[in-house]
Amino acid sequence: MKDEKYYVSYNTVHNLVKGLAQKLIDSSFNPDVIVAIGSGGFIPARIMKTFINRPIYAVGISYYGVDKKHKNYPTKIQWIDEVQEQIRGKKVLLIDEVDDTRATLAYCVGELLKYKPEEIAVLVLQNKLKEKDVNFPPEIKRYYPAQEIGDLWIKYPWDADDIEEHTKLEKAMLERQASRSK
Ligand code: G4P
Ligand code: MG
Repeated sequence: MKDEKYYVSYNTVHNLVKGLAQKLIDSSFNPDVIVAIGSGGFIPARIMKTFINRPIYAVGISYYGVDKKHKNYPTKIQWIDEVQEQIRGKKVLLIDEVDDTRATLAYCVGELLKYKPEEIAVLVLQNKLKEKDVNFPPEIKRYYPAQEIGDLWIKYPWDADDIEEHTKLEKAMLERQASRSK
């Protein structure tokens, strides 16, 4: 169902990030810095800091310019000129909430690679299993999606108006899923 929604609560976000932190440790990837893609990557990145305690740099990339006009390509709305040196030669953990078309993520990776990091790993809460508009360049050897889901619209807690209702909707969704898989 295309208009089906996939609800994610704050507790789920926290637990997904905790699981990803463990995966980083298990795969011996020890990042020097976190780069968060705003705004969706901000809260996951902050939770990750709780587990791996690395500095966070924030970048803003959007399909919508600051003038809110839709564009067909991602553009930088905030960038990290002054921290270029923080990226050079470093292991970077790039965090966003969702890998949808991959356009924003791949663009951001391309820009960060210009600063010659030692490595960039990409981490997202959800990867939508669908045909992507672009691929990651071969420099991306580590990709950590916490969940792989279909092409559904994800409802994140930070977009909720009524967080109690949002949390209940997630619970109902998980119960439906559990009864279907019985
Ligand atoms: P990608 O590289 O991560 O796949 O992102 P893509 O350019 O395809 O996404 C365009 C915008 O749509 C992004 O927002 C992304 O977060 C948002 N988006 C895509 N799928 C979903 C979804 O299922 N649920 C929600 N809530 N958002 C989705 P953005 O321009 O980065 O804005 P922001 O919300 O991060 O500030
Ligand atoms: Mg985003």
